[in-house]
Amino acid sequence: MAGKVHVKLAERGYDIIIQSGPDFTEPGIAVDGRRCLIVSDDNVDGLYGEAFERLLEAAGALTARAVVPAGEESKDLAKLEWLYGRALEAGLDRSSLVVALGGGVVGDLAGFLAATYMRGVKLLQVPTSLLAMVDSSVGGKTAVNLPQGKNLVGAFHQPSAVVINLATMATLPEREYVSGIAEVIKYGVIWDAVFFDYLEENIDKLLSRDAEVLEKVVARCCEIKAEVVGLDEREAGVRAILNFGHTLGHALEKVSGYGELLHGEAVAIGMAYAAHLSQNVKGLSADECGRIIDLLRRAGLPVGVPDDLAEDWAMLRKVMSSDKKSVNALPRFVLARAIGEVVFGVDVPETELQKALMLIPLADLGSASGKI
Ligand SMILES: NC(=O)c1ccc[n+]([C@@H]2O[C@H](COP(=O)([O-])OP(=O)(O)OC[C@H]3O[C@@H](n4cnc5c(N)ncnc54)[C@H](O)[C@@H]3O)[C@@H](O)[C@H]2O)c1
Repeated sequence: MAGKVHVKLAERGYDIIIQSGPDFTEPGIAVDGRRCLIVSDDNVDGLYGEAFERLLEAAGALTARAVVPAGEESKDLAKLEWLYGRALEAGLDRSSLVVALGGGVVGDLAGFLAATYMRGVKLLQVPTSLLAMVDSSVGGKTAVNLPQGKNLVGAFHQPSAVVINLATMATLPEREYVSGIAEVIKYGVIWDAVFFDYLEENIDKLLSRDAEVLEKVVARCCEIKAEVVGLDEREAGVRAILNFGHTLGHALEKVSGYGELLHGEAVAIGMAYAAHLSQNVKGLSADECGRIIDLLRRAGLPVGVPDDLAEDWAMLRKVMSSDKKSVNALPRFVLARAIGEVVFGVDVPETELQKALMLIPLADLGSASGKI
Protein backbone atom coordinates (compact mmCIF):
# COMPACT_ATOMS: atom_id res chain seq x y z
CA MET A 1 0.00 0.00 0.00
CA ALA A 2 1.22 3.48 -0.84
CA GLY A 3 -0.60 5.64 1.67
CA LYS A 4 -3.70 6.91 3.37
CA VAL A 5 -5.31 10.34 3.66
CA HIS A 6 -8.11 10.98 6.16
CA VAL A 7 -11.03 13.24 5.37
CA LYS A 8 -11.98 14.75 8.74
CA LEU A 9 -15.75 15.23 8.89
CA ALA A 10 -16.96 14.41 12.40
CA GLU A 11 -19.20 11.33 12.08
CA ARG A 12 -18.87 11.26 8.28
CA GLY A 13 -15.04 11.11 8.15
CA TYR A 14 -13.37 8.52 5.92
CA ASP A 15 -10.07 7.32 4.52
CA ILE A 16 -8.69 7.69 1.02
CA ILE A 17 -6.56 4.58 0.53
CA ILE A 18 -3.88 4.95 -2.12
CA GLN A 19 -2.56 1.66 -3.50
CA SER A 20 0.35 1.48 -5.91
CA GLY A 21 -0.94 -1.66 -7.66
CA PRO A 22 -0.71 -3.65 -9.78
CA ASP A 23 -3.76 -5.24 -8.09
CA PHE A 24 -6.44 -3.79 -5.84
CA THR A 25 -5.41 -5.12 -2.44
CA GLU A 26 -8.23 -4.10 -0.10
CA PRO A 27 -11.83 -3.00 -0.53
CA GLY A 28 -11.45 -0.12 1.93
CA ILE A 29 -14.41 -1.04 4.14
CA ALA A 30 -15.87 -4.19 5.72
CA VAL A 31 -18.10 -5.93 3.18
CA ASP A 32 -18.56 -9.37 4.72
CA GLY A 33 -22.13 -10.57 4.09
CA ARG A 34 -23.07 -7.27 2.42
CA ARG A 35 -24.75 -6.97 -0.97
CA CYS A 36 -22.72 -4.76 -3.28
CA LEU A 37 -23.61 -3.30 -6.67
CA ILE A 38 -20.52 -2.34 -8.65
CA VAL A 39 -21.41 0.45 -11.09
CA SER A 40 -18.98 1.06 -13.91
CA ASP A 41 -18.81 2.16 -17.54
CA ASP A 42 -18.10 -0.15 -20.46
CA ASN A 43 -14.44 0.91 -20.73
CA VAL A 44 -13.54 0.54 -17.09
CA ASP A 45 -15.67 -2.53 -16.42
CA GLY A 46 -13.81 -4.43 -19.15
CA LEU A 47 -10.47 -3.50 -17.60
CA TYR A 48 -11.08 -3.69 -13.85
CA GLY A 49 -14.67 -4.85 -13.18
CA GLU A 50 -13.91 -8.51 -12.73
CA ALA A 51 -10.82 -7.96 -10.59
CA PHE A 52 -12.66 -5.64 -8.23
CA GLU A 53 -15.63 -7.98 -8.03
CA ARG A 54 -13.31 -10.87 -7.12
CA LEU A 55 -11.71 -8.76 -4.39
CA LEU A 56 -15.13 -7.98 -2.88
CA GLU A 57 -16.21 -11.61 -3.11
CA ALA A 58 -13.03 -12.74 -1.42
CA ALA A 59 -13.88 -10.32 1.40
CA GLY A 60 -17.30 -11.96 1.77
CA ALA A 61 -19.54 -9.66 -0.29
CA LEU A 62 -22.48 -10.76 -2.46
CA THR A 63 -21.85 -8.87 -5.65
CA ALA A 64 -23.56 -7.75 -8.85
CA ARG A 65 -22.35 -5.44 -11.61
CA ALA A 66 -24.15 -2.72 -13.58
CA VAL A 67 -22.45 -1.24 -16.62
CA VAL A 68 -23.40 2.01 -18.39
CA PRO A 69 -21.97 3.31 -21.67
CA ALA A 70 -18.85 5.45 -21.20
CA GLY A 71 -19.37 9.20 -21.46
CA GLU A 72 -21.16 12.18 -19.95
CA GLU A 73 -24.48 11.15 -21.61
CA SER A 74 -24.75 8.36 -19.04
CA LYS A 75 -25.06 10.86 -16.19
CA ASP A 76 -28.80 11.23 -16.70
CA LEU A 77 -32.12 10.35 -15.09
CA ALA A 78 -32.77 7.46 -17.50
CA LYS A 79 -29.57 5.67 -16.47
CA LEU A 80 -30.30 6.43 -12.85
CA GLU A 81 -33.74 4.84 -13.13
CA TRP A 82 -32.20 1.81 -14.81
CA LEU A 83 -29.70 1.56 -11.95
CA TYR A 84 -32.48 1.65 -9.32
CA GLY A 85 -33.91 -1.37 -11.13
CA ARG A 86 -30.55 -3.17 -11.17
CA ALA A 87 -30.14 -2.47 -7.45
CA LEU A 88 -33.57 -3.97 -6.71
CA GLU A 89 -32.88 -7.00 -8.90
CA ALA A 90 -29.61 -7.56 -7.07
CA GLY A 91 -31.48 -7.50 -3.75
CA LEU A 92 -29.81 -4.39 -2.34
CA ASP A 93 -31.34 -3.24 0.95
CA ARG A 94 -30.54 -0.41 3.33
CA SER A 95 -27.43 -2.19 4.61
CA SER A 96 -26.00 -2.62 1.11
CA LEU A 97 -23.17 -0.89 -0.68
CA VAL A 98 -22.89 0.87 -4.03
CA VAL A 99 -19.40 0.84 -5.54
CA ALA A 100 -18.50 3.53 -8.10
CA LEU A 101 -15.71 2.05 -10.23
CA GLY A 102 -14.63 4.51 -12.90
CA GLY A 103 -14.14 8.17 -13.71
CA GLY A 104 -16.11 11.16 -12.52
CA VAL A 105 -19.18 10.26 -14.59
CA VAL A 106 -19.60 6.93 -12.85
CA GLY A 107 -18.66 8.50 -9.50
CA ASP A 108 -21.36 11.16 -9.76
CA LEU A 109 -24.02 8.79 -11.12
CA ALA A 110 -23.39 5.89 -8.73
CA GLY A 111 -22.90 8.41 -5.93
CA PHE A 112 -26.36 9.86 -6.52
CA LEU A 113 -27.78 6.33 -6.71
CA ALA A 114 -26.26 5.62 -3.30
CA ALA A 115 -27.50 8.94 -1.92
CA THR A 116 -31.12 8.24 -2.89
CA TYR A 117 -31.73 4.46 -3.12
CA MET A 118 -33.88 3.54 -0.12
CA ARG A 119 -33.10 7.01 1.31
CA GLY A 120 -29.39 6.37 1.14
CA VAL A 121 -26.97 3.45 1.29
CA LYS A 122 -23.21 3.25 1.74
CA LEU A 123 -20.95 4.30 -1.11
CA LEU A 124 -17.42 3.20 -1.99
CA GLN A 125 -15.60 5.38 -4.52
CA VAL A 126 -12.99 3.61 -6.66
CA PRO A 127 -11.79 6.34 -9.03
CA THR A 128 -9.89 5.24 -12.12
CA SER A 129 -9.37 8.55 -13.97
CA LEU A 130 -6.85 11.13 -12.73
CA LEU A 131 -9.62 13.71 -12.44
CA ALA A 132 -11.71 11.38 -10.29
CA MET A 133 -8.72 10.46 -8.08
CA VAL A 134 -7.71 14.03 -7.31
CA ASP A 135 -11.11 15.67 -7.38
CA SER A 136 -14.53 14.13 -7.95
CA SER A 137 -14.31 11.01 -5.76
CA VAL A 138 -13.49 13.04 -2.65
CA GLY A 139 -15.88 15.47 -1.01
CA GLY A 140 -19.32 13.95 -1.40
CA LYS A 141 -20.79 15.86 -4.32
CA THR A 142 -22.98 13.59 -6.46
CA ALA A 143 -25.25 14.54 -9.32
CA VAL A 144 -26.91 13.78 -12.63
CA ASN A 145 -27.52 16.16 -15.53
CA LEU A 146 -30.80 17.46 -16.90
CA PRO A 147 -31.27 18.40 -20.56
CA GLN A 148 -31.18 22.03 -19.31
CA GLY A 149 -27.73 21.74 -17.75
CA LYS A 150 -25.07 19.83 -15.88
CA ASN A 151 -25.32 18.58 -12.31
CA LEU A 152 -28.73 20.18 -11.77
CA VAL A 153 -30.05 17.29 -9.65
CA GLY A 154 -27.77 16.04 -6.92
CA ALA A 155 -26.97 15.49 -3.29
CA PHE A 156 -24.11 15.62 -0.85
CA HIS A 157 -23.34 12.02 0.05
CA GLN A 158 -19.92 11.24 1.46
CA PRO A 159 -18.39 7.87 0.58
CA SER A 160 -17.45 5.43 3.33
CA ALA A 161 -14.00 5.15 1.75
CA VAL A 162 -12.13 6.00 -1.43
CA VAL A 163 -9.82 3.35 -2.89
CA ILE A 164 -7.28 4.54 -5.45
CA ASN A 165 -5.12 2.09 -7.37
CA LEU A 166 -2.46 4.13 -9.17
CA ALA A 167 -1.80 1.26 -11.58
CA THR A 168 -5.09 2.06 -13.31
CA MET A 169 -3.40 5.17 -14.71
CA ALA A 170 -1.56 2.91 -17.16
CA THR A 171 -4.69 2.43 -19.26
CA LEU A 172 -6.16 5.96 -19.06
CA PRO A 173 -6.11 7.60 -22.54
CA GLU A 174 -3.55 10.41 -22.85
CA ARG A 175 -6.06 13.21 -23.44
CA GLU A 176 -8.04 12.17 -20.32
CA TYR A 177 -4.83 12.00 -18.28
CA VAL A 178 -3.68 15.46 -19.35
CA SER A 179 -7.15 16.84 -18.66
CA GLY A 180 -6.84 15.60 -15.06
CA ILE A 181 -3.55 17.50 -14.68
CA ALA A 182 -5.51 20.77 -14.94
CA GLU A 183 -7.14 20.04 -11.58
CA VAL A 184 -3.73 19.05 -10.16
CA ILE A 185 -2.28 22.45 -11.14
CA LYS A 186 -5.35 24.11 -9.63
CA TYR A 187 -4.44 22.76 -6.16
CA GLY A 188 -1.03 24.40 -6.37
CA VAL A 189 -2.57 27.75 -7.30
CA ILE A 190 -5.34 27.75 -4.70
CA TRP A 191 -3.54 26.25 -1.72
CA ASP A 192 0.12 25.34 -1.88
CA ALA A 193 2.88 27.37 -3.54
CA VAL A 194 5.49 24.72 -2.63
CA PHE A 195 3.41 22.10 -4.43
CA PHE A 196 3.18 24.44 -7.42
CA ASP A 197 7.02 24.69 -7.45
CA TYR A 198 7.19 20.89 -7.29
CA LEU A 199 4.87 20.63 -10.29
CA GLU A 200 7.01 23.09 -12.25
CA GLU A 201 10.06 20.93 -11.55
CA ASN A 202 8.37 17.60 -12.23
CA ILE A 203 5.79 18.25 -14.93
CA ASP A 204 7.64 16.12 -17.50
CA LYS A 205 7.81 13.17 -15.11
CA LEU A 206 4.14 13.62 -14.28
CA LEU A 207 3.32 13.60 -17.98
CA SER A 208 5.28 10.37 -18.43
CA ARG A 209 3.27 8.90 -15.49
CA ASP A 210 6.42 8.34 -13.39
CA ALA A 211 5.18 6.19 -10.49
CA GLU A 212 6.92 8.10 -7.70
CA VAL A 213 5.83 11.53 -8.92
CA LEU A 214 2.29 10.34 -9.64
CA GLU A 215 1.95 8.90 -6.15
CA LYS A 216 3.21 12.09 -4.53
CA VAL A 217 0.95 14.27 -6.68
CA VAL A 218 -2.22 12.23 -6.14
CA ALA A 219 -1.58 12.05 -2.38
CA ARG A 220 -0.97 15.82 -2.09
CA CYS A 221 -4.08 16.67 -4.13
CA CYS A 222 -6.18 14.34 -1.95
CA GLU A 223 -4.73 15.95 1.19
CA ILE A 224 -5.62 19.42 -0.05
CA LYS A 225 -9.12 18.43 -1.16
CA ALA A 226 -9.64 16.63 2.18
CA GLU A 227 -8.49 19.71 4.10
CA VAL A 228 -10.75 22.09 2.18
CA VAL A 229 -13.78 19.77 2.40
CA GLY A 230 -13.04 19.23 6.11
CA LEU A 231 -13.27 23.01 6.64
CA ASP A 232 -16.48 23.45 4.65
CA GLU A 233 -18.32 20.25 3.75
CA ARG A 234 -21.30 21.86 2.00
CA GLU A 235 -19.68 24.83 0.29
CA ALA A 236 -20.95 27.54 2.59
CA GLY A 237 -17.64 29.36 2.20
CA VAL A 238 -14.04 28.35 1.60
CA ARG A 239 -14.86 25.22 -0.42
CA ALA A 240 -15.71 27.61 -3.25
CA ILE A 241 -11.96 28.03 -3.91
CA LEU A 242 -12.04 24.60 -5.57
CA ASN A 243 -13.89 26.37 -8.39
CA PHE A 244 -10.82 28.37 -9.49
CA GLY A 245 -11.01 28.50 -13.29
CA HIS A 246 -14.46 26.93 -13.33
CA THR A 247 -16.62 30.01 -14.03
CA LEU A 248 -15.38 30.43 -17.59
CA GLY A 249 -14.57 26.69 -17.75
CA HIS A 250 -18.18 25.62 -17.18
CA ALA A 251 -19.40 28.24 -19.69
CA LEU A 252 -16.97 26.98 -22.33
CA GLU A 253 -18.04 23.37 -21.76
CA LYS A 254 -21.66 24.35 -22.20
CA VAL A 255 -21.26 26.68 -25.17
CA SER A 256 -18.96 24.31 -27.08
CA GLY A 257 -21.30 21.38 -26.48
CA TYR A 258 -20.45 18.87 -23.74
CA GLY A 259 -17.74 16.43 -24.76
CA GLU A 260 -16.03 18.77 -27.25
CA LEU A 261 -13.76 20.23 -24.61
CA LEU A 262 -12.96 17.84 -21.76
CA HIS A 263 -13.68 19.20 -18.28
CA GLY A 264 -9.99 19.71 -17.44
CA GLU A 265 -9.30 21.39 -20.78
CA ALA A 266 -12.12 23.87 -20.21
CA VAL A 267 -10.89 24.46 -16.64
CA ALA A 268 -7.33 25.05 -17.93
CA ILE A 269 -8.60 27.82 -20.23
CA GLY A 270 -10.67 29.15 -17.31
CA MET A 271 -7.57 29.19 -15.08
CA ALA A 272 -5.55 31.13 -17.67
CA TYR A 273 -8.45 33.60 -17.80
CA ALA A 274 -8.71 33.78 -14.00
CA ALA A 275 -4.94 34.35 -13.80
CA HIS A 276 -5.26 37.45 -16.01
CA LEU A 277 -8.29 38.68 -14.06
CA SER A 278 -6.25 38.12 -10.89
CA GLN A 279 -3.39 40.20 -12.23
CA ASN A 280 -5.74 42.98 -13.30
CA VAL A 281 -7.99 43.20 -10.25
CA LYS A 282 -6.28 41.39 -7.35
CA GLY A 283 -2.63 42.32 -7.76
CA LEU A 284 -1.27 38.91 -8.80
CA SER A 285 2.23 39.64 -10.14
CA ALA A 286 2.82 39.42 -13.88
CA ASP A 287 5.53 36.85 -13.12
CA GLU A 288 3.16 34.54 -11.23
CA CYS A 289 0.39 34.99 -13.80
CA GLY A 290 2.91 33.92 -16.45
CA ARG A 291 4.04 30.92 -14.38
CA ILE A 292 0.46 29.63 -14.07
CA ILE A 293 -0.15 29.89 -17.80
CA ASP A 294 3.26 28.47 -18.64
CA LEU A 295 2.73 25.40 -16.46
CA LEU A 296 -0.66 24.73 -18.04
CA ARG A 297 0.94 25.02 -21.46
CA ARG A 298 3.84 22.73 -20.55
CA ALA A 299 1.28 20.15 -19.42
CA GLY A 300 -0.16 20.26 -22.96
CA LEU A 301 -3.37 21.95 -21.83
CA PRO A 302 -5.18 24.61 -23.84
CA VAL A 303 -4.95 28.17 -22.47
CA GLY A 304 -6.83 30.04 -25.20
CA VAL A 305 -10.50 30.21 -26.08
CA PRO A 306 -11.26 28.57 -29.44
CA ASP A 307 -11.83 31.34 -32.02
CA ASP A 308 -15.47 30.52 -32.75
CA LEU A 309 -16.34 30.70 -29.05
CA ALA A 310 -14.34 33.86 -28.36
CA GLU A 311 -16.25 35.64 -31.10
CA ASP A 312 -19.47 34.96 -29.25
CA TRP A 313 -18.60 36.91 -26.08
CA ALA A 314 -22.25 37.81 -25.44
CA MET A 315 -23.17 34.13 -25.29
CA LEU A 316 -20.21 33.21 -23.04
CA ARG A 317 -21.01 36.12 -20.74
CA LYS A 318 -24.67 35.06 -20.51
CA VAL A 319 -23.77 31.48 -19.71
CA MET A 320 -21.31 32.63 -17.03
CA SER A 321 -24.21 34.45 -15.38
CA SER A 322 -26.23 31.26 -15.19
CA ASP A 323 -23.43 29.50 -13.28
CA LYS A 324 -24.73 27.91 -10.05
CA LYS A 325 -22.32 30.13 -8.09
CA SER A 326 -23.64 33.39 -9.56
CA VAL A 327 -25.42 35.84 -7.28
CA ASN A 328 -28.28 37.83 -8.88
CA ALA A 329 -26.99 36.71 -12.30
CA LEU A 330 -23.53 38.18 -11.62
CA PRO A 331 -20.74 35.61 -11.86
CA ARG A 332 -18.53 35.32 -8.78
CA PHE A 333 -14.87 34.50 -9.29
CA VAL A 334 -12.12 32.80 -7.36
CA LEU A 335 -9.01 34.92 -7.93
CA ALA A 336 -5.38 34.64 -6.84
CA ARG A 337 -3.46 37.29 -4.92
CA ALA A 338 -0.42 35.08 -5.27
CA ILE A 339 0.24 31.45 -6.15
CA GLY A 340 -1.08 29.52 -3.14
CA GLU A 341 -3.35 32.32 -1.95
CA VAL A 342 -6.81 32.89 -3.39
CA VAL A 343 -9.97 34.78 -2.51
CA PHE A 344 -13.48 33.70 -3.45
CA GLY A 345 -16.82 35.35 -4.21
CA VAL A 346 -15.15 38.18 -6.15
CA ASP A 347 -17.44 40.42 -8.17
CA VAL A 348 -15.34 41.59 -11.15
CA PRO A 349 -16.11 44.87 -12.97
CA GLU A 350 -17.83 44.21 -16.27
CA THR A 351 -15.12 45.92 -18.35
CA GLU A 352 -12.47 43.58 -16.92
CA LEU A 353 -14.37 40.45 -17.90
CA GLN A 354 -14.08 40.91 -21.64
CA LYS A 355 -10.63 42.52 -21.38
CA ALA A 356 -9.17 39.39 -19.74
CA LEU A 357 -10.64 37.20 -22.47
CA MET A 358 -8.68 39.18 -25.03
CA LEU A 359 -5.46 38.47 -23.08
CA ILE A 360 -5.60 34.72 -23.52
CA PRO A 361 -4.26 33.85 -26.97
CA LEU A 362 -7.18 32.57 -28.92
CA ALA A 363 -5.36 30.00 -30.99
CA ASP A 364 -3.27 28.54 -28.16
CA LEU A 365 -4.95 25.20 -27.70
CA GLY A 366 -2.02 23.12 -26.37
CA SER A 367 -2.09 19.40 -27.11
CA ALA A 368 -5.87 19.52 -27.48
CA SER A 369 -5.34 21.40 -30.75
CA GLY A 370 -7.07 19.62 -33.59
CA LYS A 371 -9.15 17.56 -31.21
CA ILE A 372 -11.66 20.21 -30.26
N1 LIG B 1 -18.45 15.35 -7.86
C1 LIG B 1 -17.48 16.22 -8.03
O1 LIG B 1 -17.00 16.84 -7.07
C2 LIG B 1 -16.92 16.44 -9.40
C3 LIG B 1 -15.76 17.21 -9.57
C4 LIG B 1 -15.23 17.34 -10.86
C5 LIG B 1 -15.84 16.72 -11.93
N2 LIG B 1 -16.97 15.98 -11.72
C6 LIG B 1 -17.63 15.27 -12.84
O2 LIG B 1 -16.73 14.29 -13.32
C7 LIG B 1 -17.06 14.01 -14.68
C8 LIG B 1 -15.79 13.93 -15.49
O3 LIG B 1 -15.00 12.89 -14.97
P1 LIG B 1 -13.86 12.19 -15.83
O4 LIG B 1 -13.02 13.23 -16.44
O5 LIG B 1 -13.24 11.16 -14.99
O6 LIG B 1 -14.69 11.57 -17.04
P2 LIG B 1 -15.23 10.08 -17.33
O7 LIG B 1 -15.79 9.47 -16.13
O8 LIG B 1 -16.09 10.20 -18.52
O9 LIG B 1 -13.91 9.29 -17.71
C9 LIG B 1 -13.19 9.70 -18.83
C10 LIG B 1 -12.99 8.54 -19.82
O10 LIG B 1 -11.92 7.74 -19.35
C11 LIG B 1 -12.34 6.38 -19.27
N3 LIG B 1 -11.58 5.80 -18.17
C12 LIG B 1 -11.66 6.12 -16.85
N4 LIG B 1 -10.73 5.46 -16.18
C13 LIG B 1 -10.03 4.73 -17.07
C14 LIG B 1 -8.91 3.88 -16.96
N5 LIG B 1 -8.24 3.70 -15.82
N6 LIG B 1 -8.47 3.26 -18.08
C15 LIG B 1 -9.09 3.49 -19.29
N7 LIG B 1 -10.13 4.30 -19.45
C16 LIG B 1 -10.58 4.92 -18.34
C17 LIG B 1 -13.83 6.43 -19.11
O11 LIG B 1 -14.42 5.24 -19.56
C18 LIG B 1 -14.20 7.62 -19.98
O12 LIG B 1 -14.26 7.22 -21.33
C19 LIG B 1 -18.01 15.10 -15.14
O13 LIG B 1 -19.31 14.59 -15.22
C20 LIG B 1 -17.92 16.14 -14.03
O14 LIG B 1 -19.12 16.85 -13.86
C21 LIG B 1 -17.50 15.82 -10.49
